Amino acid sequence: MRIGVIGAGFIGRTHLAMFSQVEQAELVGVSDALPALAEQAAQQFGLKPVFRSAEELIDSSELDAVVIGVPNAFHRPLALRALERGKHVLLEKPMAIDGSAAAEIYRAWRSTDRILMIAHQMRWEPLSQQAKSLAASGELGRVYNAKAGMMRRKSIPGWGSWFTRKSEAGGGPLIDIGVHVLDLALWLMGNPRPERVFGSTFAEFGPHKKGTGSWGTPQWDGRFDVEDLATALIKFDDGRTLSLEVSWAVNTDSDNGHYVHLMGSEGGLSLYPKRMVLTGQKFDRPFAIEVPAPEPLENPRVLLSRHFVDCILSGTQPISDPLSGLTNSMVLDAIYRSAAEGDAVTVDFSFLDSR
Ligand SMILES: NC(=O)c1ccc[n+]([C@@H]2O[C@H](COP(=O)([O-])OP(=O)(O)OC[C@H]3O[C@@H](n4cnc5c(N)ncnc54)[C@H](O)[C@@H]3O)[C@@H](O)[C@H]2O)c1
Repeated sequence: MRIGVIGAGFIGRTHLAMFSQVEQAELVGVSDALPALAEQAAQQFGLKPVFRSAEELIDSSELDAVVIGVPNAFHRPLALRALERGKHVLLEKPMAIDGSAAAEIYRAWRSTDRILMIAHQMRWEPLSQQAKSLAASGELGRVYNAKAGMMRRKSIPGWGSWFTRKSEAGGGPLIDIGVHVLDLALWLMGNPRPERVFGSTFAEFGPHKKGTGSWGTPQWDGRFDVEDLATALIKFDDGRTLSLEVSWAVNTDSDNGHYVHLMGSEGGLSLYPKRMVLTGQKFDRPFAIEVPAPEPLENPRVLLSRHFVDCILSGTQPISDPLSGLTNSMVLDAIYRSAAEGDAVTVDFSFLDSR
């Protein structure tokens, strides 16, 4: 499987490192809007062609698949071109900058026989996989409510860079890190269809250049026009609910890690980065079982890369498929819309069934 990587920033280099550990993958080339970065990455990973542009890479007949790891605004045009040129696509999260761009990619994908996978590597963490089997086994009963979040206290990435500009990122922590826990929660809940969303966003730190972290390169003459905290209640068409909270900067007692709490009629499951807690009631008493995270046999990102290649070779759909990416983007959109309108909004999936 001959693979090219678009974007030689943090995630592009991560993909290069991961795919170089996948036996059936052959890394062919890399491109970046900054050619010097692509050159550096190509040298580091011993790749020959450095494509002068993403378009040149996508159009190349030397490739079967492309990995798209560039700012969110460019996911749509590059994914559309790649699908049109018959390439399989591993697309970074979020699927697109907003719901309508994600829907466009989804529609384009549906008219091809190519594999399109969204890179939600948290699904490949060993504890996430254990949580998924437990939730799917029915042992928790009906999971009627869930709560997910990632509350970073002082972590605004690259202040002023594309990360904090709505035109290139689409939003702040909600679309950046919230999409990870939203994806995890929806997957663990069995992919229910969101129906109504009530959300709020705040920007209390970013506009004052406070709450910045060490991630990304700040551009102090840039701008911050996104949120730094978002909260939402999502109601599904089967009546179940999920509450979501996420921040880049906030004053609260939090360890900065993510969490997903599944509340079921027969048992509960709380998932954290390093442990899982199973809860229940027996002998008229509540109990909790601690499950520590096992050492992963392999880096979860390598497992993700291998899954992508396996799906292409076997023609099976990836577990993080285009519909899950689209659903995530539609929910994010609804949260932003609800926050702007100050009222609950409907998530409209009718266009999916009308084709
Ligand atoms: N799955 C994860 O854990 C994870 C982690 C980080 C980032 N991401 C996602 O990856 C994407 C990139 O994030 P990053 O942290 O690597 O950002 P980054 O700023 O480190 O790198 C982005 C790179 O893309 C290049 N670029 C911009 N426009 C381009 C274009 N049109 N064609 C080719 N190259 C272009 C830039 O020059 C830059 O080198 C984002 O969508 C982000 O949400 C995912």
